[in-house]
Amino acid sequence: MLASVFTTLLLSTLATAHVILTYPGWRGNNLIENDTFPFGMQWMYPCGGMGTTRNRTFWPTLGGAIAFQPGWFQGHDKATIYINLGFGTDGPDNGPKNMSFTMVPPFGLLGPSKGPYPGTVCLPQVPLPANTVMNPGDNATIQVVELAQHGAALYSCVDITFAAPGDPRIGHVNETNCFNSTDLGFADIYTITTKEVGASIDATTTRATAIGSSIRAGVMGYVPLVLGVFWLLI
Ligand SMILES: *[C@@H]1O[C@H](CO)[C@@H](O)[C@H](O)[C@H]1NC(C)=O
Ligand SMILES: *[C@@H]1O[C@H](CO)[C@@H](O)[C@H](O)[C@H]1NC(C)=O
Ligand SMILES: *[C@@H]1O[C@H](CO)[C@@H](O)[C@H](O)[C@H]1NC(C)=O
Ligand SMILES: *[C@@H]1O[C@H](CO)[C@@H](O)[C@H](O)[C@H]1NC(C)=O
Ligand SMILES: *[C@@H]1O[C@H](CO)[C@@H](O)[C@H](O)[C@H]1NC(C)=O
Ligand SMILES: *[C@@H]1O[C@H](CO)[C@@H](O)[C@H](O)[C@H]1NC(C)=O
Repeated sequence: MLASVFTTLLLSTLATAHVILTYPGWRGNNLIENDTFPFGMQWMYPCGGMGTTRNRTFWPTLGGAIAFQPGWFQGHDKATIYINLGFGTDGPDNGPKNMSFTMVPPFGLLGPSKGPYPGTVCLPQVPLPANTVMNPGDNATIQVVELAQHGAALYSCVDITFAAPGDPRIGHVNETNCFNSTDLGFADIYTITTKEVGASIDATTTRATAIGSSIRAGVMGYVPLVLGVFWLLI
């Protein structure tokens, strides 16, 4: 099933790589590049150019599975994944006010190549954002963000209605629709602080001087901030 969805879409939209939400579903096919979206729809915040849908899918009030195919990513074999929740329907476009509630810590994804690849990622038990309680019937939107190596991000969303765990309207999760492909790897992301907030600038200047140029000190002082997020490649 997943393989055939991938193959069909692959044949039709090879030029516009990106991320497909396979469980619990998605707002719709946003792998589109046309005159309205010359760079491709999926780069548009917050949901890859797709408006809020009415065909919501049911998802458990205690959290549940999320599966996606990240490999529509022509030119990039690494990405950082974020999964967020937006609550309710009283924001723009009858969707959430914002998509600011993270569900899992961001993680690195390693693909097998820079070409499109058909692997899937399955997170079998994604929790609700910290300190939130949802009731059956509440609406929300799940957003998957795939941050590319150059800093731009791809977005895809699914609109959900919460249902009690075990509700038969919740899509069945099994090894057919939710699995990790062996050709995808994962990586932790570490932030290394190079200057504490409020720390004296002397600390940074001393570092730069130590590498031999006091003239570059001002510039160098900022460089570690930009490079502050490192990939740990396994
Ligand atoms: C909602 O409908 C659109 C358009 O038919 C479809 O592409 C999408 O997969 C549907 N989403 C869900 C969650 O069923
Ligand atoms: C591009 O695709 C989107 C999504 O299907 C559509 O809403 C838009 O009208 C299209 N633009 C053009 C110029 O065809
Ligand atoms: C949730 O969304 C559905 C479908 O759009 C709508 O019929 C229902 O009234 C919404 N529920 C709430 C509590 O807003
Ligand atoms: C974000 O959304 C939440 C939930 O809807 C809301 O309580 C909060 O005020 C929003 N934050 C901003 C900055 O709009
Ligand atoms: C897939 O891999 C991720 C990252 O290691 C892990 O959290 C998740 O549980 C795995 N999924 C399955 C179905 O084993
Ligand atoms: C997994 O669930 C889907 C949807 O209910 C079903 O079509 C498929 O046969 C199931 N696969 C297995 C191995 O049970």
